[in-house]
Amino acid sequence: MVKLIPLPVECTIRSGFFKLPNVVRIYSDSDLCGAKSVLKSILEKIDGVRCEDALDSGSSHVAFCYDRELSNERYILDITENKVIINASGFSGAFYATQTLRQLFESDSQSPLNNIQCAHILDYPRYEWRSIMLDESRHFFGKDVVKQLLDLLAMHKMNVFHWHLSDNEGWRVEIKKYPKLIEIGSKRRGTHFMAWGNRKDSAVDWTPYSGHYTQEEIKEIVQYAAERNIMVVPEIDMPAHFGAVLAAYPELGCRGVKIEVPIMHGGEKNGPADLIACAGNSDTYKFIYDVIDELAELFPAPYFHIGGDEAPKKEWKNCPKCQKVINDNKLKDEEELQGYFNNKIALYLKTKGKRLIGWNEILKSTSIDKDAIAQYWTLFRDKNAERWLVTNGRIIASKHQAFYFDMPYAVRNLKTTYKFEPSQYKIKDPNGGILGVEGTLWTEWISTKERLFFQLFPRLEAISEVAWTPREKRNYADFRSRLKSFIKLLSSMNIRPAPLEIVDTGFLRSVKIGKIFHLNDAHIEYKSALSLNADSETP
Ligand code: ACM
Ligand code: ZN
Repeated sequence: MVKLIPLPVECTIRSGFFKLPNVVRIYSDSDLCGAKSVLKSILEKIDGVRCEDALDSGSSHVAFCYDRELSNERYILDITENKVIINASGFSGAFYATQTLRQLFESDSQSPLNNIQCAHILDYPRYEWRSIMLDESRHFFGKDVVKQLLDLLAMHKMNVFHWHLSDNEGWRVEIKKYPKLIEIGSKRRGTHFMAWGNRKDSAVDWTPYSGHYTQEEIKEIVQYAAERNIMVVPEIDMPAHFGAVLAAYPELGCRGVKIEVPIMHGGEKNGPADLIACAGNSDTYKFIYDVIDELAELFPAPYFHIGGDEAPKKEWKNCPKCQKVINDNKLKDEEELQGYFNNKIALYLKTKGKRLIGWNEILKSTSIDKDAIAQYWTLFRDKNAERWLVTNGRIIASKHQAFYFDMPYAVRNLKTTYKFEPSQYKIKDPNGGILGVEGTLWTEWISTKERLFFQLFPRLEAISEVAWTPREKRNYADFRSRLKSFIKLLSSMNIRPAPLEIVDTGFLRSVKIGKIFHLNDAHIEYKSALSLNADSETP
């Protein structure tokens, strides 16, 4: 019967069914009214169903009851033949109960129409950070797609949306004090569309590319996310991946040279090698503080992501201003200069009530602020992580072999995502120092919504279970069996997930894997899967 994803902590099936009446009377204690509205909008999508407020629990079909004993994200859902009762202590838990009910009503169950099996469910998440990152620098999707993504994250009980709003290839958020970020930084002459190794002009689509969010749109999206219990954390990548800023304000680079917004993708090794903010120029810090000032007004989250990844040090080595900071502050080298840079930003963020998050390169400096959070995308178990965790540092797990969802399934299969165990460290914290997990959607080679969702589904289902379900309850075979009906649910919402036939089988084993990157394979995989999708009964 119950094909829930993520699998709840405890679910006891009882005999009988709750039949949804045509007019559903819903009661809510005052603290949980927000969730009542959410449930109304879910139920009223069902043909012939309408909701009314009930004045007390006794006369209702569905009741939201305040229970202060339950922690914030926890809920208890009691489904009996006469009534559905939801216990929670606040919006988060009550909201998750509505998402469970949504899956029960909408999934392809064996029960008669609008009937759900009686059950008792006790549920709460394993990790507090359950996130997906979207890169809108390389490709820009716009607010309708972001809202749809937020709806889907909420359905999977994910609670953080990490928004990569700047990178070399484009700046995507209006900053009133620096209009050239949009006038210049959000536009590029073309887009490189082949693997990193192929840098010929024939690998570039010369259609001009642009896109950005106004501050009003950002507010709208942040509010939309909050209504779905999702916190939005912006990322402004610095000091590297800073090409779009340097195109707009070249004076913030070490040599002040004028550049175009780059069209080529790639990190430190594969991309333009010297795009970095000058860490010895006070104007750089002023710029960043000003940007933080404006973004802090838009994003209430107590976190701010500064990137910090793949910072090439060539410019800093040759820059008198950067070298002066190293000498004046007795820093060992350019790596420690990045630590100095990061700590200045961390301190400024604290004045705004925000904690710094950075990719795990921030741990290369031993002096990094202890409140920072490291998002691990590389090796995962390395010396820096061990050192960080024994001093109570916190980590978000995004290991690329498991959680880089831009990768082809043939290279990063679904099973690897599902089976990834984040808590790998022997330290006292029950979660092993892991704040949570995050899947990333880098978009160098993802230019459409359809492709984005193909890469994300059914990986979102897998990561949601890593993030939510107790470790001992995770079972891949059981997950795959639940996934079948879940994919039908997604299809009914016009989401075309990658077909289950390809997500694990090594579908592309016969296709030569590119030497530097598997992009060409990814395109082939996508096209082949689309035709598979067209042939199969689930479109
Ligand atoms: C990264 O993939 N450069 C965080
Ligand atoms: Zn410099």
